[in-house]
Amino acid sequence: MSRSARRAPALASCVLLALALTACSGGGSGGGVEGTAGGSGVGDPYFPKAGNGGYDVTHYDLKLAYDPDRHHLSGTAGITARATKDLSAFDLDLKGLDVESVTVEGKDARGGRSGQELTVRPRDELAEGDTFRVKVRYSGTPVTITDPDHSEEGWLRTADGALALGEPTGSMAWFPGNHHPSDKASYDIAVTVPKGLEAVSNGELRSRRTSGGRTTFTWHTAEPMASYVAMLAIGHYDISTTTIGEDELPVYTAVDPEQADASRKVLAKIPEIMEWATYNFGPYPFSSTGAVVDREDDAGYDLETQNRPVFTGAPDTETLVHELVHQWFGDSVTPKSWRDMWLNEGFATYAEWLWQEDNGGDSTQDIFDALYRGDYFDNAKANKEIWAFPPAKPSSAAHISDKPVYWRGAMVIHKIRQTVGDDAFYDIVQGWAAAHRHPADHAADAGSGPPTCGVVVGCRLPHARLRSRGGTPTTPLTWVDESPLPSCDLIRRTGP
Ligand code: TRP
Ligand code: ZN
Repeated sequence: MSRSARRAPALASCVLLALALTACSGGGSGGGVEGTAGGSGVGDPYFPKAGNGGYDVTHYDLKLAYDPDRHHLSGTAGITARATKDLSAFDLDLKGLDVESVTVEGKDARGGRSGQELTVRPRDELAEGDTFRVKVRYSGTPVTITDPDHSEEGWLRTADGALALGEPTGSMAWFPGNHHPSDKASYDIAVTVPKGLEAVSNGELRSRRTSGGRTTFTWHTAEPMASYVAMLAIGHYDISTTTIGEDELPVYTAVDPEQADASRKVLAKIPEIMEWATYNFGPYPFSSTGAVVDREDDAGYDLETQNRPVFTGAPDTETLVHELVHQWFGDSVTPKSWRDMWLNEGFATYAEWLWQEDNGGDSTQDIFDALYRGDYFDNAKANKEIWAFPPAKPSSAAHISDKPVYWRGAMVIHKIRQTVGDDAFYDIVQGWAAAHRHPADHAADAGSGPPTCGVVVGCRLPHARLRSRGGTPTTPLTWVDESPLPSCDLIRRTGP
């Protein structure tokens, strides 16, 4: 199929969902404010304690020092946030580590810990719309978190340093924050490590200074970032930097020397993949790109950490395509809740199919047909597993990264393409990526308009766009929400 005719993307309209925060009365008062507690979660259907109510973070300023010999992390987290209601107290998510002090607006605040909740009670209550600065000093041995699906995240020790990974809730192991994808923020991350080691994070490296036997790396991420794609890699790495294209997009790769030979050829494809993805999905949403390659057993999975994905073991080309395309779908357009993860994984998986189709491999239709027939994978169990649940309805947190989320997610996207044709499909996809690029709740102008706490992209699919094209309501909801096997030919009509 030809995808040569691309129009300028139209904006796909879609549903925006606001988080409803229950306001109760009571609480203390300060400066005329009658605040209440912000709440210990944002109501995520799979991770109810993830994130917190009552405020939006706009910026994280992390100053960290790590000693790999003692496995000791010490840090100061400067958090700039805006109150979305009158607050007497608010929570941050933090797991493990000892909190030494907390200030709000420079004044000592009281803090209490319970599970992953660090409750902060500022001296003066915060009024809705106020921008405030929190400073948390903390230290200790950071923990590795085992997910409901048994994978490990958070702080992972490696042979020569550490790797911090955060999907879905691991970032609370290395800094306190509002750890839910519905609250994105810009970041400055400064990391001090023993001289001789590298410290790689998201965004662009602003400076690297050595004194007294220690080196401080300062990384800056201007574009909003969800905390689950924040990353830190400390150790020995072969660093390479280059640029792509006329705009000179910086490429920064860090490769564990053991993985250098196996990685060389595939990482050299980054410029070609970026160009291909930009052609298909629209302008690249960030200011730099690259990759980190660690050793296989450092995590056992790869992750679309912002700007530069982390691979544990040299990736193959499809995997590199997958993680780079996540930068558009997942990192820039971010799910409002973990129920929407199929949009991340569906697009990233579908991008692998498109890459294969464009590079002499199987066609997307052949892949779809084989999956639908049930003979795509070598083993029967795997072929069955893609039908275990609809992609937007994992049965529990243990299943949010199961096959239906990836494979059936990609099948939904293929069905949309098949229904509307290539021109409309790329129009929709590029329009959607452009319209919801960096859905930054903090872009809301404090003090004007209604309080819109956590108003972030809640798009399930660009329904409206699909409907508006032919005048016929053709939403592929059967493929997203229903069990077990939707009709292959019929895309069910649903109401507006
Ligand atoms: N998002 C990763 C990818 O597709 C996979 C992954 C790693 C993941 N850790 C996870 C998915 C935790 C869900 C939860 O490349
Ligand atoms: Zn993925």
